[in-house]
Amino acid sequence: MLFHQKKRLESHQLRSSRWFGPDDLRSFGHRSRIKQNGLSTSEVAGKPVIGILNTWNDLNSCHGHFRDRAEEIKRGVWQSGGYPVEIPVMSLSETFMKPTAMYYRNLLSLETEETLRCYPIDAAVLMGGCDKTTPALIMGAVSAGVPFLLMPGGPMMRASWRGEPQASGTDVWRHWAERGAGRLSCDDWQDFEDHIAPSTGHCMTMGTASTMTSLAEVLGLTLPGAASIPAVHAAHSRMAAQCGQQAVELAWYDCRPEEILSRRAFENAITTDMAIGGSTNAIVHLIAMAGRAGIPLSLSDFDEISQRTPVLANIKPSGQYVMADFYDAGGLRGLLNQIQGLLHLDCPTVAGTTLGENISDAPVYDQDVIRPLENPLLEKGGTAVLYGNLAPDGCVIKPSAADRSLLQHTGPAIVFENYRDLRKRLNDPDLDVTANHVMVLKGTGPLAAGMPESGMLPIPKKLLEAGVRDMVRISDARMSGTSYGTCVLHISPESSAGGPLAVVQDGDLIELDVSGRKIHLHVSAEQLQRRLENWKSPDPNLSRGYGKLYFDETTQAHEGCDFRFLHNDGSRGPDPEID
Ligand code: FES
Repeated sequence: MLFHQKKRLESHQLRSSRWFGPDDLRSFGHRSRIKQNGLSTSEVAGKPVIGILNTWNDLNSCHGHFRDRAEEIKRGVWQSGGYPVEIPVMSLSETFMKPTAMYYRNLLSLETEETLRCYPIDAAVLMGGCDKTTPALIMGAVSAGVPFLLMPGGPMMRASWRGEPQASGTDVWRHWAERGAGRLSCDDWQDFEDHIAPSTGHCMTMGTASTMTSLAEVLGLTLPGAASIPAVHAAHSRMAAQCGQQAVELAWYDCRPEEILSRRAFENAITTDMAIGGSTNAIVHLIAMAGRAGIPLSLSDFDEISQRTPVLANIKPSGQYVMADFYDAGGLRGLLNQIQGLLHLDCPTVAGTTLGENISDAPVYDQDVIRPLENPLLEKGGTAVLYGNLAPDGCVIKPSAADRSLLQHTGPAIVFENYRDLRKRLNDPDLDVTANHVMVLKGTGPLAAGMPESGMLPIPKKLLEAGVRDMVRISDARMSGTSYGTCVLHISPESSAGGPLAVVQDGDLIELDVSGRKIHLHVSAEQLQRRLENWKSPDPNLSRGYGKLYFDETTQAHEGCDFRFLHNDGSRGPDPEID
């Protein structure tokens, strides 16, 4: 059912009326403190309170425009008869946070949930864009059960260097490899640094940020077309004001997250993830987000949908273009229009329309950027899920961003025990490595290191100099959505949890068979068992504070890396109202 087919609330039925309505001392305090802000009763009385959760900070340059956008959202809220309240929440800056922003995704989700719960908020506008901010905000808001929509931060403008278009991450890794091969000078590299991030906005590739905002849109959690608008485009400001307006509507109709999110909506998101050649990180995030809504998703859902979905977005790292080209070509709505037959079109959205209505008349203006079904970038299989004795609970690879000739490969392992070991030995001229080797990195899973984006292991310098640009690399890490290469990721269980990856040794033969969905360690079952029996679990290096909570409660990659106690398995009743 679309939300405005329900009965509109009366003012006294708004959640915030519990704070402002009663004739008691506490409510007196609430009302008098609103007046302390310089607002008179007539400006706020009986109006929906719209919480604007702003993930701005000075170290998150992807959200540099968020202070302006917050004002524009407020404008929309006032115009529609609501009362806007801006609330800063933690910002997860992908580039600056150590050990990795992923480590803090669940913390922002907790903060979001509790912020929405404790304040008199009738509906929320979540301001997110930089990678983990989008899933974290959505996870928290779903758990809080408060009506909300997402204002996607938008990608930054096109970058250009020495006459060539450049893209966040993807071209950085490419030029870094050239520098490692001695083909780019220090001065060249510094000059490149001046050009690669030309405006505010999130990474302009189809990395995790663009993937997650696109998936939020197809889930029905943004206004139609919102995810593709570049951050600095005037349309982005207009969209922000419309978010404010629409949040007031969501409040009046008490449109709860469970009215939008369903198994079918998540199937749409997975289909879209495949069609846009989305980031492998989306798998972990979608499983976690669905888990908050009490909807089980498994890795096999991704593999199955991947097998029937073509990759149509010709965007880096899988393709050639960047997000500004995608927007000009028709954006996500144009792409979704191409794959209508693969989507559940009757899913409701926060716009008060169905997904089908949102995309029915969406044109594509450039069929090289958004390919038609007859001419896809890849016929199917943007992401593949592999199983085997090396990954009993699964692992993933993005074939669309890999060297096709390596998708079937057997080679000897060269093992790095952790990232420090990798850094120390990678460029040793005596490193015994060839292009045929399979590089193995341990100690980078959720429990070991917060699951950093180390999965695109750098190619050893001696091989770079010999012209090698891709190799089979396997790890329990993630990789940036902007990365590329034949990288097997998210091996589960991870090495630090005693998964078989922990006992791989130099020289062991490893077989990668993407079409057969297999990753196999050519070691006998008996020998593998013996090695595992002798394996010693590392001491947890996080023994207090948030680190302890994280270490004690985080699930493995195939389960979404959420905290166990936040996952909604359907056994928990509604949270009690707290007065
Ligand atoms: Fe923020 Fe890439 S660093 S989206």
